[in-house]
Amino acid sequence: MDFRTQSASLDALAGVSADALVLVLAGDSVPAGLDPVLAAAVKDAIKLGDFELKAGKTLVLQRVAGVKAPRLVLAAAGAATLKAGRNAAQAALVQLKTRGAVHAALAYAGFAALDESMAEQTVLAAAEAVYLYRHTKPSAAPAPVLSKLTLLAGKDEGKAVKAGLVRGQAIAAGIELAREAANRPGNYATPTYLADQVKQLGRSHGLKVEVLDKKAVEKLGMGSFLAVAEGSDEPLRFIVARYDGAAKTQAPVVLVGKGITFDSGGISLKPGAEMDEMKFDMGGAASVLGTLRAVVELKPKVNLVCIIAACENMPSGRALKPGDVITSMSGQTIEVLNTDAEGRLILCDALTYAERFKPAVVVDVATLTGACVIALGGVRSGMYASDDALAAALSSAGEAALDPCWRMPLDEEYDEGLKSNFADVANVGSRAGGSITAAKFLQRFAGKYRWGHLDIAGTAWKGGAAKGGTGRPVGLLTHFVLSQVR
Ligand code: BES
Ligand code: MN
Ligand code: ZN
Repeated sequence: MDFRTQSASLDALAGVSADALVLVLAGDSVPAGLDPVLAAAVKDAIKLGDFELKAGKTLVLQRVAGVKAPRLVLAAAGAATLKAGRNAAQAALVQLKTRGAVHAALAYAGFAALDESMAEQTVLAAAEAVYLYRHTKPSAAPAPVLSKLTLLAGKDEGKAVKAGLVRGQAIAAGIELAREAANRPGNYATPTYLADQVKQLGRSHGLKVEVLDKKAVEKLGMGSFLAVAEGSDEPLRFIVARYDGAAKTQAPVVLVGKGITFDSGGISLKPGAEMDEMKFDMGGAASVLGTLRAVVELKPKVNLVCIIAACENMPSGRALKPGDVITSMSGQTIEVLNTDAEGRLILCDALTYAERFKPAVVVDVATLTGACVIALGGVRSGMYASDDALAAALSSAGEAALDPCWRMPLDEEYDEGLKSNFADVANVGSRAGGSITAAKFLQRFAGKYRWGHLDIAGTAWKGGAAKGGTGRPVGLLTHFVLSQVR
């Protein structure tokens, strides 16, 4: 999609030319200063009972007298906040998805000045509205024709809006890449596919990319990652990509993604219902890939290392068994009490590997526990951090990106359950506090640097009728990386 900005004052929007004029209205009365032609149309629609100034309401009108654009789309935001504005813009653009309009022009009324964040979120709303999964269903629906969006800005807003459009487009591209990878079925989005995606990004943007195979991973002593991968015939990949945006002497930000391209549970087999959704178990890897995509476009002065551990978790004659003890790259031995707690088994070796970069900070991202879905649902990702400053940085990145997270605790008492009679640590504790014990397990392997962990089990994809990857937390991570520029 093509995004641009044009200056247009609120009292003269009716003259704007486009296939559709989208008007996002905040507040419970028609905003002062709005073009009288539009104000009259809004008031009339309310009087007729066709529209209300309540969050979520939209109305499409055709050929309104005095309005140059042949379609006028009204969308009520309710509150004049970033989130309400974004939701309303998205609802309006969804209305246009299945119509004939190619070019929409969008204006906000009743909000404070249009700033960088609003422009960014407008782009994300539009990208979300028109995204359609087609790779294995080309017949899905005709591609939306809406392909151009002009954001109408007041006279002093142009500069901020332009910057917001740039950031929004980079993040949108990252989100789309992440969603596409997540949505592709397990027999398409394999570890090799993920490696190819990173390599492609590396070629087009001059990144250093290294893809390690089983042999290389064996040589590194990643006994834990290997043990999970061993149950499958699909070859594992350990993917490392480096973006160098700052001086070599500057310690990098390291992102680590869980890339289980299908999680059957292994010998501790999952129940059949909704097992298909375990193709999304590479959502962490997808979001790291998507963040890299956004970062290479925005070129911030920061060094970034992206690590993806990718394999399948399958039952077979070579698969891990409950009770098996494996030796991680760190040297710690692990008693595998449940082969379905595989995410932490691949991440622990990736966290040990990350040490070699002498990182400023390491953040791992994983669809790690069903318990996190119970705790936080699909609204906020679970966030863990080794220090308050990092927690604050992740938190504010999430708020700024409308991709929120919520801090969870790491008290040492949560470690109790991970004791084993046969190894240094067990891979599961009791059911209680499952997201936290998973984080405590990872923390043992992340001792030597500042460490953050995002449990995105509830936020990486949606089930039900709208089943599909969300691209989260690409927005949060991109904002976080941008915040680490020194
Ligand atoms: N990939 C799952 C976590 C998951 C489950 C994400 C459901 C989203 C929805 C993970 O590998 C897993 O199976 N975790 C187990 C851990 C348990 C065995 C301690 C879980 O959450 O049930
Ligand atoms: Mn599992
Ligand atoms: Zn899993």
